[in-house]
Amino acid sequence: MPGTKNWVLFLLIVLVAACRDPQPDQEAVLKRGEYLVNIIAKCAGCHSPQGTKSLGDPMYLAGGVVAGTINTPNITPARKTGIGAWTDNELESLLRQGLRPDGSDVHPVMPSQFYQYMTDDDLLAVITYLRSVPPIENFVPPTTEFPFPASQYSNPPDPAALSSEDDEVLYGAYLANLAHCMRCHTPSKNGKRDYENQLGAGGLEIDSGSYIAITPNITPHETDGIAHYSVDDIAEILRTGRRPDGTQLLPMMGTRELHRATEADRHAIAKYLKSLTPKPNPLGE
Ligand code: HEC
Ligand code: HEC
Repeated sequence: MPGTKNWVLFLLIVLVAACRDPQPDQEAVLKRGEYLVNIIAKCAGCHSPQGTKSLGDPMYLAGGVVAGTINTPNITPARKTGIGAWTDNELESLLRQGLRPDGSDVHPVMPSQFYQYMTDDDLLAVITYLRSVPPIENFVPPTTEFPFPASQYSNPPDPAALSSEDDEVLYGAYLANLAHCMRCHTPSKNGKRDYENQLGAGGLEIDSGSYIAITPNITPHETDGIAHYSVDDIAEILRTGRRPDGTQLLPMMGTRELHRATEADRHAIAKYLKSLTPKPNPLGE
């Protein structure tokens, strides 16, 4: 009978489709992507001009002058001036290795050294979300002069290599890595961030453009660090941007973003900080 074969094939396809795992929930992927881009990995904080860091803002993710002389590229899906024409593989190489499609390196102020440890699922969520935001054609001239030399950036530790029995600590380390906390909270030695010996010891001087801050020690060191804060205290500092004594943290700390993180995630980050090896304050370069 002509057509029988087609029917059998059709039924087979239906059966196979029905037995396959359900498609990953697109809504959940987008939600995770939004969370990472805006709150944890803070792409929006750097890639949106000041004051336009939320979806719906006219220049959201469209790039421009962000701090001092640094121009960040347009990462909306605009085809001419954004990432609309980039493939997923090209975006992955950029995010994980800091390599542009033409093989050139981006300046490491773009935190690929941290994003290299992003899980495949999270990477996919970030890319899926970036493709979903409104495309904005906005040409951003490349930065010609970076205030910090590329050589000053070094590789942070892989959070998955941390030895801990506590899943919450491990997840906190993963999130803190994406939030590149240690890039600000680790001092330099010989002109390079010393993640190996002084992770979290603070003492780095950072010029925001309008003020200069010296980062505090965020290891649980008795006298120099955060031993006097409980996990709940730290989670609360991250939520409110205020210390238990009422003093307000400088906006550079990123509490504007962390304020929107989930309670569980702030708690995990706090627990990770408390698990760090206590380090004394650095004695200076
Ligand atoms: C600390 C600021 C900062 C953060 C956070 C940041 N970026 Fe970047 N990003 C930059 C800068 C600066 C450049 C350009 C570097 C250069 O000019 O060499 C860049 C380059 C890029 C590029 C290359 C675009 C092009 O046209 O060359 C992409 C794509 C990108 N970032 C995506 C992201 C994503 C996605 C995130 C979050 C997961 C993110 N960035 C987080 C600062 C940042
Ligand atoms: C852009 C640089 C930067 C990044 C990224 C950053 N911080 Fe900070 N952080 C600071 C500065 C600067 C201060 C001090 C602010 C002040 O004195 O007002 C600070 C203060 C703190 C404090 C208060 C310490 C105390 O002694 O009271 C904690 C806790 C902290 N940061 C944790 C974190 C965590 C966790 C992350 C990542 C999720 C993070 N920081 C990311 C710059 C940064």
